[in-house]
Amino acid sequence: MNHFQNKSFLKEIDFTTAELNYLIDFGCHLKQLKKQHIPHPYLQGKSIALLFEKTSTRTRSAFTVAATDLGAHPEFLGKNDIQFGKKESTIDTAKVLGSMFDGIEYRGFAQKTVEQLATFSGVPVWNGLTDTWHPTQMIADFMTLKEQFGQLKGLTLAYVGDGRNNMGNSLLVTAAKLGVNIRIGSPKELQPDQKIVALAKQAAVDSGSDITLTTDPEAAVNGADAIYTDVWISMGEKIDVAARVKALLPYQVNAKLLAATGKKTTILLHCLPAYHDDQTEVGKSLEEQFNVSALEITDDVFNGPQSLVFQEAENRLHAIKSIMAATLGNLFIPDTLFNS
Ligand code: CP
Ligand code: NVA
Repeated sequence: MNHFQNKSFLKEIDFTTAELNYLIDFGCHLKQLKKQHIPHPYLQGKSIALLFEKTSTRTRSAFTVAATDLGAHPEFLGKNDIQFGKKESTIDTAKVLGSMFDGIEYRGFAQKTVEQLATFSGVPVWNGLTDTWHPTQMIADFMTLKEQFGQLKGLTLAYVGDGRNNMGNSLLVTAAKLGVNIRIGSPKELQPDQKIVALAKQAAVDSGSDITLTTDPEAAVNGADAIYTDVWISMGEKIDVAARVKALLPYQVNAKLLAATGKKTTILLHCLPAYHDDQTEVGKSLEEQFNVSALEITDDVFNGPQSLVFQEAENRLHAIKSIMAATLGNLFIPDTLFNS
């Protein structure tokens, strides 16, 4: 039997280091097949539900194209299209979708919702982002690091900004599992939750990853191989925007912070979407309101030669394809690969 058969992909901590490395490497392999136009229809004849309570560009597109490339039919079920979240419970929705679809992607708010979908649907469920974790993003991000540096173990990744959001959590735990040294540079009130830190520290015992939490952004990036940032206000957050911008301004990724790495080879990553000042639908942009040149990242470094953000975005496709094919595909991945 395929080692990953019928497993859900809900959070990184559920997977061993060897399993995460396998999914990263399989993503690289599938990327080569796609570039060489070699068909890989591991999900021929399957149907996939794409359940989105929050908006998405990359995750929705990646799941749609990945399912299509794998020979499956993807069906988008947005929050305004179905009864879920209004007239019908998560458990009933899980049972119904599981009786018709072969796999379910979910993006939304509570981690509990994606866990319930997995428990009650009886089919693999893939977490396309919750308030707590963004695991499919991790396979793409560490794939990008591996493409750039050839290996993961021993690299140093600095994440600066909101250390308490889904990206902070996922990067902290995944890096710790993979033996990547991880630095989180955030103001005190946005440092990661102690429970997440404990999970990462536990993982680091085996991997040898070094974990640093600091309020000093320059100390966080010093000597780093990669700097990572994310939006300062995540989807669905109801916060004092002015206070958040003020707290995070010292953590802006700009030319000065990039120079503080002391290296010319440091790369920049961002899960995207990134905040730019043309995004305001009405009225003033956040930059104008708070009289700042940019929020989490300045345009010069975002578009500069060290930025791999669009390679990283493309890798979402290959990573998601890897996760779907491994857990639901008609292929053989032997258990013996994962015996330690
Ligand atoms: N990085 C990411 O998840 O992007 P989307 O919100 O566009 O899916
Ligand atoms: N922290 C961001 C990630 C978006 C991919 C959010 O949740 O909005």
